[in-house]
Amino acid sequence: MKKKIINFINKKNKSKIVSLTAYSKNIASILDKYCDLILVGDSLGTVLYNFSSTKKVTLEMMIEHSKSVRMGVKKSLMVVDMPHNTYRNSKEALKNAKKIISKTKCDAVKLEGGKKIIQIIKTLIKNKIPVMGHLGVLPQSAKNFRFKGKKIKERKNIIRDSKLLEEAGVFSIILECIESSLAKEITKITNIPTIGIGASVNCDGQVLVTDDLIGLNKIKVRFVKKYSNIEKDINNAALKFKKDVIANKFPSKKYSY
Ligand code: KIV
Repeated sequence: MKKKIINFINKKNKSKIVSLTAYSKNIASILDKYCDLILVGDSLGTVLYNFSSTKKVTLEMMIEHSKSVRMGVKKSLMVVDMPHNTYRNSKEALKNAKKIISKTKCDAVKLEGGKKIIQIIKTLIKNKIPVMGHLGVLPQSAKNFRFKGKKIKERKNIIRDSKLLEEAGVFSIILECIESSLAKEITKITNIPTIGIGASVNCDGQVLVTDDLIGLNKIKVRFVKKYSNIEKDINNAALKFKKDVIANKFPSKKYSY
């Protein structure tokens, strides 16, 4: 296993893990200073392309955005989501994961699901492709985005899946929108870091979609905290630019040749 990934796993029970998404170089290079892990999430489909779900995201989209992110990430672990319908069987998954790794030089790929895709995950890991798991709400297949873990059966399945994923060799698991006590239990019974999104403080680390964090994406869900309002800054800048252009103040001599 790569040293970078071993160091990441070793953070469990020592320090909280900070993760954010990035879809392009400039944002990635800012976040890299603060993050342990940067995820090129297929959430880019809904956030950037206005798709109604992540299902329409293609391998090519993920690769192009990841190539850009790669230029900005120097120290964090860089993980790329394998999009919907790119890992329907082991052969397809291996071919596409290899393509993602070779074209983007990312450190690992992330796949959504547990028991159903365990053989696929094992194949990737056997072929030395580091894999991050993703349990709870699975946006690529979810019928709704209701949080998980209230029903006993749901809890049991997610616990079972987290054990299966760890046994299969994933280095970390994203827990999306699950009940806090369930997140606590999974974090306790696994030896790999759990990274929560809407999964309480009981995880080893947290991830958010950066566009949500900075207030660029107009999303209103309980687990998103807006840490800045970049939309306001962009509005101000665009308005000032507009006024200067109309008043013939821009470009002044300083900005002209
Ligand atoms: O696609 C994504 O951004 C994700 C995070 C929400 C964890 O999977």
